[in-house]
Amino acid sequence: MKNDLVRFGVSLEGDLLRKFDAFIGAEGYDNRSQAIAGLIRKEFVSDAFAHGGPVAGAVTIVYDHHRREVVRKLLDIQHDHGGIIISAQHVHLDHDNCLEIIAVKGPGAKVKVLAAALKAVKGVKHSTLSVTTAGKQGGK
Ligand code: NI
Repeated sequence: MKNDLVRFGVSLEGDLLRKFDAFIGAEGYDNRSQAIAGLIRKEFVSDAFAHGGPVAGAVTIVYDHHRREVVRKLLDIQHDHGGIIISAQHVHLDHDNCLEIIAVKGPGAKVKVLAAALKAVKGVKHSTLSVTTAGKQGGK
């Protein structure tokens, strides 16, 4: 029963449903059920992140590797947050720039602190945090 599919009826205004169908077509969903499940899971991930719950994700940073103090600071921060870092990949983008992809898993609050600390380092040109489910049912 726990993971069995359960059918339920949804009533929506015609305009909203037409927009929804156009949206899910553009997003590549096969059907409304799949789209609704995807949106619910997405909302659960946002909620978990907002309330400090468990999430997984990736912090991506681009920085100038000629600035040696940047490299040192980024490494210091990563060592300070070792508990939530699963792996880190370093790519030499070009002569001047490095790209680092840091995979994380842990409480949303800690992930947020790590991402903010990395972003704040002088010499970091751009930084993003992408958050997804930690794998538990429905993103919780
Ligand atoms: Ni590099």
